[in-house]
Amino acid sequence: MSTEPSPNNRRLVLFPLPFQGHINPMLQLANILHTKGFKITIIHTDFNIPNQTNYRQFTFKSISDGLSKTMADNVNLDTVSSVINFMNKSYIPSFRNCLATLLEQEPVACLISDALWHFTQSVADSLKLPRIILRTSNMSCMLVYAAFPVLDEKSYFKTTIQEEPIKDLAPMTTRDIVKIMNGDFEEGKLELISSMIKETKAALGIIWNTFKELEEPEFLAISESFQVPSFPIGPFHKYFTASSSSLLEQDRSYMLWLDRQPISSVLYVSFGSVVHMGKSEFTNMAWGLANSKQRFLWVVRPASVSDSEWLESLPTGFMEEVGERGCIIKWAPQQEVLAHQAIGGFWTHNGWNSTLESICEGVPMICSPCAYDQPINARYVTDVWRIGVMLDNMSEREEIERAIKRVIIDKEGIEMRQRSKSLQKKVNLSLEKGGSANQSLDSLVDYLFSL
Ligand code: UDX
Repeated sequence: MSTEPSPNNRRLVLFPLPFQGHINPMLQLANILHTKGFKITIIHTDFNIPNQTNYRQFTFKSISDGLSKTMADNVNLDTVSSVINFMNKSYIPSFRNCLATLLEQEPVACLISDALWHFTQSVADSLKLPRIILRTSNMSCMLVYAAFPVLDEKSYFKTTIQEEPIKDLAPMTTRDIVKIMNGDFEEGKLELISSMIKETKAALGIIWNTFKELEEPEFLAISESFQVPSFPIGPFHKYFTASSSSLLEQDRSYMLWLDRQPISSVLYVSFGSVVHMGKSEFTNMAWGLANSKQRFLWVVRPASVSDSEWLESLPTGFMEEVGERGCIIKWAPQQEVLAHQAIGGFWTHNGWNSTLESICEGVPMICSPCAYDQPINARYVTDVWRIGVMLDNMSEREEIERAIKRVIIDKEGIEMRQRSKSLQKKVNLSLEKGGSANQSLDSLVDYLFSL
């Protein structure tokens, strides 16, 4: 893609949700639209401020009056939906003022807001500004979320130890649905999702960080039930060489170590930017990795393990046992790591960005989903695309060891890698001129001109 924009003087205002898994795709989208000649303004919250040094071509506007420091310091998988519910109320006045001031200064063609910022629809309506949403996850997830009222009515969120397929919602199982709520059903979570679905249907379009060939039936189902133009133009990160919207510092010191490892021999382990785990799960992960005797690169985010600043909970003797075979770091340049020839598998929580980044590099996965869209993504990885194994119970070290060997050394792992490589080829084709993502992007640009 050309990096020289042809100027068209149309300004777009983009509003990312302030979490790593949402900031990355929104800033990537901003870059894509900038290369198409649009002027870009990013409105961001005073919490998790994006690093602007890498985006001098954009105008940034900050809004405040949102989270207290205590709330901001305690965002994790258990609290994130109540934090997002809170922000959808607390940021209304400052967002509205900011947008109104921008509109006084110059015309704006469209607001592109994260779908989870559902309050922005009524603000955009009140200012007569067209609103399109970016859905940072995939279409399969949106369809499952749209079925929440029915799932709730049938008590699927609260029951079930036994795993059964759900009629009319294949490939999802009862266990996946319970997992979406992270074992903690709350009305607030349902409220957030139902407001998101309602205001997505009210938007003028949906931009997706996915591609048509990956979710063909879901694309048709979405077009039918949402009746809003859909633009699957992903994977966004493939339009540019490297992501530079990381909130944490990326450690590159182990790259030389990675260069020395045999092809497809290393398991990359990372659970994204918000998962938090207990000590016993962490210890089991460590012993599973050690006992598998396979090579690994493990991202352990500071403060992501209960009562630990970083690695204090590692079992005694673990480092000696593992020696040169494993590396542990705080944060990685993930896309670059996944593209490295030494990587043979990815043990992931299946956040959508991680899942898509793995597909783009043809890397098979071990799926340990925790909540929200992750169980849905994991189910598609294992049962539909067949490029990974499920490991959603981390209480048995032997099961962990077995899953690692299945993906890294067994014949089954080789077959998954082959299927993943064929999806990688489809990704590349879809991004080429005339490919589906490329065509969707052209349609999106035309659409933005027509508003
Ligand atoms: C959150 C939700 O948990 C996820 O389910 C949803 O799909 C998006 O929002 P997160 O948990 O952070 O996201 O996971 P994910 O979507 O995988 O995003 C993580 C991002 O951080 C990826 O782009 C990944 O490349 C990046 N990352 C991760 C790094 O740059 N370095 C790392 O060491 C780990």
